[in-house]
Amino acid sequence: MLRSKIAGIGMYVPKNVITNQDLTQYMDTNDEWIQERTGIKERRYADRTGETTATMGVEAAKIAIERAGIIAQDIDFIVFATLSPDYYFPGCGVLVQRALKLKEIGALDIRNQCSGFVYALSVADQFIKTGMYKNILVIGSEKHSFGLDFSTRGRNVAVIFGDGAGAVVLQPTQDPNQGILSTHLHSDGESAEILAMYNPGTHANHWGQYADFAEAKIGEQFMSHEMIDKAQNFPFMDGPAVFKKAVVKFPEVVMEALQANGLQPSDINMLIPHQANLRIAQFVQQQLKLGDDQVYNNIQQYGNTTAASVPIALCEAWEKGKIRQGDLVCLAAFGSGFTWASALLKW
Ligand code: COA
Repeated sequence: MLRSKIAGIGMYVPKNVITNQDLTQYMDTNDEWIQERTGIKERRYADRTGETTATMGVEAAKIAIERAGIIAQDIDFIVFATLSPDYYFPGCGVLVQRALKLKEIGALDIRNQCSGFVYALSVADQFIKTGMYKNILVIGSEKHSFGLDFSTRGRNVAVIFGDGAGAVVLQPTQDPNQGILSTHLHSDGESAEILAMYNPGTHANHWGQYADFAEAKIGEQFMSHEMIDKAQNFPFMDGPAVFKKAVVKFPEVVMEALQANGLQPSDINMLIPHQANLRIAQFVQQQLKLGDDQVYNNIQQYGNTTAASVPIALCEAWEKGKIRQGDLVCLAAFGSGFTWASALLKW
């Protein structure tokens, strides 16, 4: 049976390190609060003009392509996951196609926030398994620092997020001991507004039961002065509500992947949870009774990089020698939507 394997992996994080202490010059916060509630010590911020979501994705992709032992022109499809695209449209996939001088291949953008990379991997996996493509570039990248409220009003969100990118090249394999065993995708739109950026958007107050949206006037549909005055151009998050749902759905989707393959938590060599919050990851670890060497976290250094967090953590764990050939690796994510997902693979 044809399976997909990760043939190459790469990551890119900007050089600019922002500590918790650095954030205190913009908002009323402190290192102790941030570390205690989230585990985050520092994050990276992209260069204001020199680095974009797409360019960071390109840097991660170059490494993944080289490690896969191919050249950029061998790529036959792109799947790009982000919630912070360079443009409202077109998506980042075409910018990668242009920057890497790829052939006129298909480029698909995925909008599933923190679950974006696992969703993207699942989509790519289907194309490989059907034999349609042979070298798919899957990227997760975010430039959050451009879209956060750095005043005290936005501190519960702003301190959490960081910038960066991760990428993999997926290729087919006939090896029964390697590759993606299964992927599992879920959503529940009931709480769509609990973790969301409402504007720019076409909602025109239609879903306004959750937040007090500014009225969109003719000629200002996407973004009005009033929306900006009310800070509705920034992400909104009901943190405790997200936390409560995440600690249920993370273990559930990991167990779903294991059960689909007749496996137990003890079979996992490495769980790579989306780096939402260290406390969430520790809770999941405890629920699944996993040892410290079975879970990889790096939110302490990079914050929550949304669609980039899973490939960055996977890449770093692999680079540190914590993932070896034949290991059972589980990727799991949960976030805005809500959407959640898992992928189980043999490295
Ligand atoms: N620095 C200092 N104080 C802060 C702060 C900050 N950055 N952000 C919020 N606070 C304050 C609040 O104003 C509140 O003060 P009050 O009690 O005087 O009103 C207090 O801290 C507690 O706020 P609360 O939101 O209840 O804290 P919490 O314990 O739930 O922690 C989160 C907040 C965001 C860290 C936590 O809810 C969380 O991690 N949720 C999940 C978020 C997540 O994972 N998001 C990514 C999605 S994948």
